[in-house]
Amino acid sequence: MNNPLHNEYPADSLEAKDLEYIFHPTTNLKQLAATGPKVHARAKGVYMWDNHGKQYLEGMAGLWCTALGYGEEELVEAAASQMRTLSYSQLFGGKTNEPSVLLAEKLKAMMPFDAGRVFFGLSGSDANDTQMKLMWYYHNAIGRKEKKKIISRLRGYHGVTVASGSLTGLPYFHSHFDLPIANVLHTDAPHYYRGAEAGESEGEYVRRLVKNLEALIVKEGAETIAAMIAEPVMGAGGVVVPPQGYFEAVGEVLSRHGIFLIDDEVICGFGRTGKPFGAETLGMKPTTMSVAKALSSAYLPISGVIIPEFMYEPMAELSGTMGTFAHGFTYSGHPVCAAVALRTLEIFEEREIFAHVARISVPFQQRLKAFGDHPLVGEARGVGLIGAVELVQDKATKRGFAGKQGVGAYCAARAEANGLIVRNLGDSVAFCPPLIISEAEVDELFTKFDKALNETWAWVRSGS
Ligand SMILES: Cc1ncc(COP(=O)(O)O)c(C=O)c1O
Repeated sequence: MNNPLHNEYPADSLEAKDLEYIFHPTTNLKQLAATGPKVHARAKGVYMWDNHGKQYLEGMAGLWCTALGYGEEELVEAAASQMRTLSYSQLFGGKTNEPSVLLAEKLKAMMPFDAGRVFFGLSGSDANDTQMKLMWYYHNAIGRKEKKKIISRLRGYHGVTVASGSLTGLPYFHSHFDLPIANVLHTDAPHYYRGAEAGESEGEYVRRLVKNLEALIVKEGAETIAAMIAEPVMGAGGVVVPPQGYFEAVGEVLSRHGIFLIDDEVICGFGRTGKPFGAETLGMKPTTMSVAKALSSAYLPISGVIIPEFMYEPMAELSGTMGTFAHGFTYSGHPVCAAVALRTLEIFEEREIFAHVARISVPFQQRLKAFGDHPLVGEARGVGLIGAVELVQDKATKRGFAGKQGVGAYCAARAEANGLIVRNLGDSVAFCPPLIISEAEVDELFTKFDKALNETWAWVRSGS
């Protein structure tokens, strides 16, 4: 044991054992060794408690996923009852199970495009890997073997596996991991506040981005590009809501060049933006879709890739020639995950959760956007029940802080000290509460954040 924190925690404490045994994902491992971990002990509704009994309002729905909040007995019961009936089954080789079939039927009926089939996985990352492989398999099946490239966007987040991590457009996820792999192209992020030139209107900005996209397509050759992948609202890239008309213009260019659009709804899907899918709020016309996270309200891992029938048919043909369609996971169509997801979708309907989000997002966005007047906030942005404030050093010039100053991290730490969980993405602080949040809880969220922001402002002014 060479970690000094081991001496601060009792040897048999969870903190000490964590520091000894866990390799944390997406964490500053060096810093963790100095600060120690935070132990989540229990949670109910929109609140969570740590192992010291401190209560937090969960302003991030975990990792953008606990749509129905914590401790929902109906979902506990759906899992327990399915485990008693059939604790495992599979979809390989034509086997099937009731929860997976019913879930696929329900998902297909919900889709905002002409959906055909659902392919199940376990995470957003594997869903987007599957998307890439299906694009390749489909185009091979129809004899367009040169159509292999996928366009993604800078600041987009699509996961961390070798393929989905390559689609992700954030440098941290590439450097030293030897990513991206071949056949991945990145185009502009649609962030007007950061990306617009002086005096450029939103409309002009959109036209410039779409022109850049088309130039990339022409340079690479449309015949080599299978699809573009996009989140309706970028999440991990800083909660970027595209300007009006962006997806309509992108869609026009893609369809003119015969390029598909993969809609990554892993965060936006199931009500987050106030409509069932982000595509509907943001004017996207998907060819295929990835869903995960809120699909099961994060009670169990499950993801889905939904594709149109016209893509399925040639792939089915090719699998006949090959002897099998050789892609799938042990847990594709896990009956317990599917049963929980099915019950989640039913609860969304029974409790009219999407209509609730549409209502509650009005005071949520009002409170959020009011932070735009704070001297530390360059931009307060969001839609539905997702948003962020971007902290800047100089409001007039939009000059940010040097990354190393860690102003966003300080603000998130102050929020946590005040009993609020938020997440800093660089110097943008993100909000994405469970969809069930009430108006009083929205008020509590932003009152706590206001305090954290003012403490951060005082810290910045003190020059610490
Ligand atoms: C839009 C989007 N796509 C994909 C993923 C990857 O999902 P997972 O972490 O379940 O692999 C995420 C995760 O945050 C995401 O936000």
